[in-house]
Amino acid sequence: MATTQQRVEQALSQHLPSADRIPARLHAAMRYATLGGGKRVRPLLVFAAGELSGAPVERLEVAACAVEMIHVYSLVHDDLPCMDDDVLRRGRPTCHVEYDEPTALLVGDSLQTRAFEILADPALGDPARQLKMIAQLAHASGSCGMAGGQAIDLASVGQTLNQTELELMHALKTGALIRAAVLLGALAGNPLDAEAEHQLDRFAKRAGLLFQVVDDILDCTASTATLGKTAGKDEAADKPTYVALLGLERARAYAEELRTEALAALSVFGERASRLIQLADFICHRQF
Ligand code: IPE
Ligand code: IPE
Ligand code: MG
Ligand code: MG
Ligand code: MG
Repeated sequence: MATTQQRVEQALSQHLPSADRIPARLHAAMRYATLGGGKRVRPLLVFAAGELSGAPVERLEVAACAVEMIHVYSLVHDDLPCMDDDVLRRGRPTCHVEYDEPTALLVGDSLQTRAFEILADPALGDPARQLKMIAQLAHASGSCGMAGGQAIDLASVGQTLNQTELELMHALKTGALIRAAVLLGALAGNPLDAEAEHQLDRFAKRAGLLFQVVDDILDCTASTATLGKTAGKDEAADKPTYVALLGLERARAYAEELRTEALAALSVFGERASRLIQLADFICHRQF
């Protein structure tokens, strides 16, 4: 995993405009938000899923960078005063605090378009495949995916959602991009048969929901120092979360249930899924 993280770090650096290119402040802010932090779970999922389809690393690298750029854009906007109003991210001041709000807005816009630009690079030489990957990532990012989930999140402050409504919100705001990471990794290689595709998608959906359930748990159990972002914000902001709905113990039990379901979907792949199994365990049991 450390090897993949280093590879992705280097690739992200190469795919981002250099900090002295005009407009230098915007490019410096894009690099500030993207480089040198984060768990890189989505890139790791891209690479792990790529092992199921025998995908070449060069293609996985581009897919991993594209998904991570969308993710970082979502974090930069999520932290803005008009959204969660957070001052700390990845152990450092958030982008709008270090730079300013208009710059942070444009960092998000620019990371989003850069993600699609690198996926569309003619040098990848496989237009039909590239089109599928672009469509998948676009769908996961937009109003029927991450952005839509964020809209539900903001509209739900102070409300009590039932478990079905909460599941939809989480599946969209965080699950969609996790799922896209897995599906893009698979798409980067040889086509899977219909049953394998179905099981991988089942895994991806469960892992995506699991990720946000654990994020909710960590928000109220871990420290700001460990998380590198402000702890306790969900309760303070009266956000509907799994902890608010179920209480801590049942939220933890639900996370274990989702992990078990995610792993069950991988059984058709045998040994080849070992990286995905490790990642599901990490997503469930992580401390940050
Ligand atoms: C945090 O994502 C925001 C959510 C979508 C829950 P991560 O926990 O993956 O954040 P980084 O990338 O490691 O900083
Ligand atoms: C973040 O959810 C979802 C996205 C960024 C799309 P949160 O608002 O819970 O993420 P954190 O806790 O600030 O990282
Ligand atoms: Mg948020
Ligand atoms: Mg937030
Ligand atoms: Mg959170």
